[in-house]
Amino acid sequence: MTAAFIDLRSDTVTRPTPAMRRAMAEAEVGDDVLGDDPTVQRLEAVAAERLGKEAALFTPSGTMANQLALGALCRAGDAVVMEAGAHPFNYEAGAPALLWGLTVRPIPGLRGILPAEAAAAAFQREDDHFAPVTLLCAEDTANRGGGTVWPLERLDALCAVAHQHGVFAHLDGARLMNAVVASGLPADRRAAGFVTVSLCLSKGLGAPVGSLLAGPRDLLKRARRLRKALGGGMRQSGILAAAGLYALEHHVDRLSEDHARALILAEGLSAAGFPTRRPETNMVYTSVADAEDAQARLSAVGLRCLAVSPTELRLVTHLDVDDAAIKAALAAFSALPDGARPG
Ligand SMILES: Cc1ncc(COP(=O)(O)O)c(C=O)c1O
Repeated sequence: MTAAFIDLRSDTVTRPTPAMRRAMAEAEVGDDVLGDDPTVQRLEAVAAERLGKEAALFTPSGTMANQLALGALCRAGDAVVMEAGAHPFNYEAGAPALLWGLTVRPIPGLRGILPAEAAAAAFQREDDHFAPVTLLCAEDTANRGGGTVWPLERLDALCAVAHQHGVFAHLDGARLMNAVVASGLPADRRAAGFVTVSLCLSKGLGAPVGSLLAGPRDLLKRARRLRKALGGGMRQSGILAAAGLYALEHHVDRLSEDHARALILAEGLSAAGFPTRRPETNMVYTSVADAEDAQARLSAVGLRCLAVSPTELRLVTHLDVDDAAIKAALAAFSALPDGARPG
């Protein structure tokens, strides 16, 4: 680690590697709003193939990719069902209502995973009192669930419910490649039952900017227009797409290293008196007596992590975290006063 501090707040904090920066500098570009940036087109084609969909659209962020899916698939007045901790409900600034006039119907699941039966129950009362449910969403991996990987049968079961009721399903795959590496199942299989899937390049994959929305070509035409309406049409964005292409080529398999380090971190934290659930991917949620206090104390010694509830810290491993950083992070936790441990 060359940085003065260790940053485990999120896997979004990575900086482009020298090789990625070279790929960006050398990218062939055009004007993507006019439809002629060859590097963006290549990224969209590669992503569509990887995700098993007809087409893909490059977006500035994962939030925009999710919101374009909601906007393209639903009409004002509709309801969207998702697990209660899901990103579009909690962390997208109220966009489903603000942008599209949608109601989110949040349903508590288990570690971010929404049981199909619970989603099916949302259709039980369908009279004029209720906003009609027209979309089901899943998040794989589930961020607030602890970076959990949806069992394949649960993904398929949720899609089957959508199918039974004649509605669509969208997959928030911000960290889908973490799920792919952890499960050994390819992205196109995991996303198979979903009409649309989003994928972030700027999280574990290490690109500085960018996400994708993949789905049917006609639907993405509409999403492309909505992207323009939101100010998300980008010009010589091939420079960013080049980073994404590099990430997809070089930074997917290595996610297993992040997962292995997360496990070492979690085991070390538990051993040091901070109860920590075994992580499935790169996210570690650990219990402390006072999260704000622990976060400040750790920050003072050069370890950044995120207080996500009064008694919970989140630590995320990523491309810029090596074994030495994990060792140093564990040393920082061990040095906390006894009172920092939950009672
Ligand atoms: C599960 C999930 N979906 C979507 C997003 C949104 O991504 P962005 O920050 O690029 O808007 C995030 C961001 O952390 C996320 O964790």
